[in-house]
Amino acid sequence: MEQKYILGIETSCDETSVSVVKNGREVLSNIISSQIAIHEKFGGVVPEIASRNHVEAISNVTKKALREANITLADIDAIAVTYGPGLVGALLVGVSYAKALSYASNKPLIATNHIQGHVAANYITHKDLEPPFLCVIISGGHTHLVHIKGYNEFEIIGKTRDDAIGEAFDKVARVIGLGYPGGPKIDKLAKEGQPNITLPKTYFENLDFSFSGIKTAVINLNHKTPDLNKADLAASFQKAVTDVLIDNTLKAAEQLGIKKIALAGGVSANSYIRQRYMELKEKENLEIYYPEISLCTDNAAMIASAGYFNYINDNKTADLELNAVPNLKM
Ligand code: KG4
Ligand code: ZN
Repeated sequence: MEQKYILGIETSCDETSVSVVKNGREVLSNIISSQIAIHEKFGGVVPEIASRNHVEAISNVTKKALREANITLADIDAIAVTYGPGLVGALLVGVSYAKALSYASNKPLIATNHIQGHVAANYITHKDLEPPFLCVIISGGHTHLVHIKGYNEFEIIGKTRDDAIGEAFDKVARVIGLGYPGGPKIDKLAKEGQPNITLPKTYFENLDFSFSGIKTAVINLNHKTPDLNKADLAASFQKAVTDVLIDNTLKAAEQLGIKKIALAGGVSANSYIRQRYMELKEKENLEIYYPEISLCTDNAAMIASAGYFNYINDNKTADLELNAVPNLKM
């Protein structure tokens, strides 16, 4: 097989990341410059500040990624960049930088969808994973059940009608006083508690989700009973959202007649969710996959991987007209 080296660039939210990936699955470098410490004091990502920090970081992060991969731009085959979905100003930094690199080095540019990148993180961790499979995409911006029919062929079969699951984690964390980013903090606190508080779970006739009911119930409970044990509340919230996630996943797997299930997105780093899905291996005789923790949250290796599969399968390259698309769909 011919070797292909892809340079991936990701700036859709608050991580500036650049990576070099070989043949879509082998990470040679994956530099992530996180702005968490900067946004923490505001309780969430401030878009203007994110853009400014991407501008400051991108050039050095790129140099570092090339150096660590022990490769020069001349030996890169193509440049993959996230062009959506995400914060428009943040995306534009990556897109403009990638276009400039592509023009200066005369390398093809591959416009890459961030959500597709999250799915591709699984191809890096599991070298023999191939479509078709069912992907449970759970992040700060998305909650999607997707039938991955091929590397570039997807069908969304269920999605949230209101909050994304990560958004619900972050809001609940803020309300119970844990701060930003809330997901990992809820994960940690829940380990000290019991899921002994009943919360409302929402189901629809199709495979859609709704997390605003659970979220609001937690917020109201916390307000009305301030001495409620916060660890129990965190554990109960986590269990309720996971129950719904798993119920819909099982329904989807049955409908599609699929035994392979992969998790993707920042929330798939959650230890309780991972454990509950792992239990399905024996209980339901399913194959369960998830990316290693460092590839669950935003990073450029997953973008380089998704870009690689776009490039080799469709040979679809972008031109210098490429623009950021903040609400890009899968
Ligand atoms: O995929 P991601 O990095 O960015 C988006 O594309 O949205 O996901 C970020 C989300 C945040 O909501 C964050 O709180 C959540 O992933 N997250 C977690 C954990 N680690 C990150 N949620 C629950 N448990 C975790 N361990
Ligand atoms: Zn993401």
